[in-house]
Amino acid sequence: MAELDVCPLDELGPGSVKIVRAGELAIGVYNVDGDLYAIEDRCSHDDGPLCEGDWDPEERVVTCPRHGSNFDLRTGEALTLPAYVPVETRVHERAAERNRAVLSRQADSSYLRAIGGALGDAPG
Ligand code: FES
Repeated sequence: MAELDVCPLDELGPGSVKIVRAGELAIGVYNVDGDLYAIEDRCSHDDGPLCEGDWDPEERVVTCPRHGSNFDLRTGEALTLPAYVPVETRVHERAAERNRAVLSRQADSSYLRAIGGALGDAPG
């Protein structure tokens, strides 16, 4: 299974976010009370840098900094206009045995397949 190593878990504590890149793809990884949420760092409205915006860990909502649309971290659903199309998102379990945050390739996720392809092209 292709994986994208994000960082040691102690560098991504609860309430923090880290943007990781795989080729042209950028993904925000959020720690909400130990659960990791991954959402593509590209707003569905106008390709804004979604994960550079504010977010609310309690509500699990991220706000696009460009025009202010809110998205549900759990589902990727656009909650407020002007965006209305969901963004790819997934919930990931911690790789506790390795003490690292890892995104794993999932058969039902197009962007994670893209990560797998990018990793396959990467050296090492
Ligand atoms: S680009 Fe995100 S709301 Fe417009």
